[in-house]
Amino acid sequence: MYTVPKLKSYTTAALDKAVETLRAALEQEWKAVKNESEWKAFRDRWMARKNGILTEVNDLWLKAAPKDAKRAVGQRVNEIKKQVEDSVHRAESLYKDAAGTRVALDAVDITLPGIRRPLGAEHPVIKTVHEIVSVFRNLGYSVQEGPVIETDYYNFEALNFPPNHPARDTQDTLFIAGQESKPQRERLLLRTHTSPVQIRTVEKMKPPIRIVIPGTVHRNDPPDASHSPMFHQIEGLAVDTNITFRDLKGTLDHAMKALFGSSARTSFRPSFFPFTEPSAEMMVSCFICGGTGKRGSEPCRPCKQTGWIEILGCGMVDPNVYGFVDYDPKKVSGFAFGMGADRIAILKYGVDDIQLFFNGDVRFLEQFG
Ligand code: DAH
Repeated sequence: MYTVPKLKSYTTAALDKAVETLRAALEQEWKAVKNESEWKAFRDRWMARKNGILTEVNDLWLKAAPKDAKRAVGQRVNEIKKQVEDSVHRAESLYKDAAGTRVALDAVDITLPGIRRPLGAEHPVIKTVHEIVSVFRNLGYSVQEGPVIETDYYNFEALNFPPNHPARDTQDTLFIAGQESKPQRERLLLRTHTSPVQIRTVEKMKPPIRIVIPGTVHRNDPPDASHSPMFHQIEGLAVDTNITFRDLKGTLDHAMKALFGSSARTSFRPSFFPFTEPSAEMMVSCFICGGTGKRGSEPCRPCKQTGWIEILGCGMVDPNVYGFVDYDPKKVSGFAFGMGADRIAILKYGVDDIQLFFNGDVRFLEQFG
């Protein structure tokens, strides 16, 4: 039976030899374990606090070691400790193997539960974007994308924003720093809307054009329950011969019915955008209260009791915009629209804080799985 010797020498060779002898004994003993009582005896012999082999190794080797050998001995003692624990564990698996067959201990245990990879869920905003895009795809629209870092030219100038339009102000727009030496139209910014992709697309396509443009946009808004410096828009553009405001109304009315159900109604009121003339805001009958302004006896909050929800901006493409892209405004006409996907998702899912969409809390996101 193995017993822990006192060490006479602490040279590497002497330490190696002592460890080697101990290991050989350990190896022989764990493999010999055949039942529970043998296993307990084995475990106690090696691991008991009092007089266990590990304790003795600690006392006789480590504590007794001269200062300059402590490190080397300490390392070895740690390794031995791990091996002993491992062997006790293996010995247990071994005798518990009911048939007594010596299963290779590193073999795969097919009775263990597998590693579950939880399925992810589509983010509610992206889900909403996909729904909206697919409504327009079904109408024959194709999908275009454009850069999030944009030039002043595409974001403002080519969309007919006059040079000193307040939207360019740093209060509203996030500019890339250090570009003072560049002419204004070349300065880079984070696009404030998806409308610049209208220009980028018509520059490379000829009418008829029917496109939708989903994407992220940025504005210099401090985050709160209804604002986020980053949010999502979906833009639409149709250009062809003989496109009229009736086409705009018919298309958007159809889209709202496809999105919110056939009882959805739409209403337009005049507005202003530099790149459309005339411009309008479209309202959709509140899909929370069905347009009544009330939920039972309670007032409907999302529509502020009006029964209508403002959902997008739209209009007929301003002839000035065609001038930037070499289209002949006498031959073609078109309409455009832009909506915020986050706002629609908020209303659809009854979320009361837009920040919940972006701070990555799985407890929130899981609910949409
Ligand atoms: N770009 C506008 C915004 O961010 C939304 C918009 C309004 C887009 C009218 C359009 C449009 O294409 O025709 O507020």
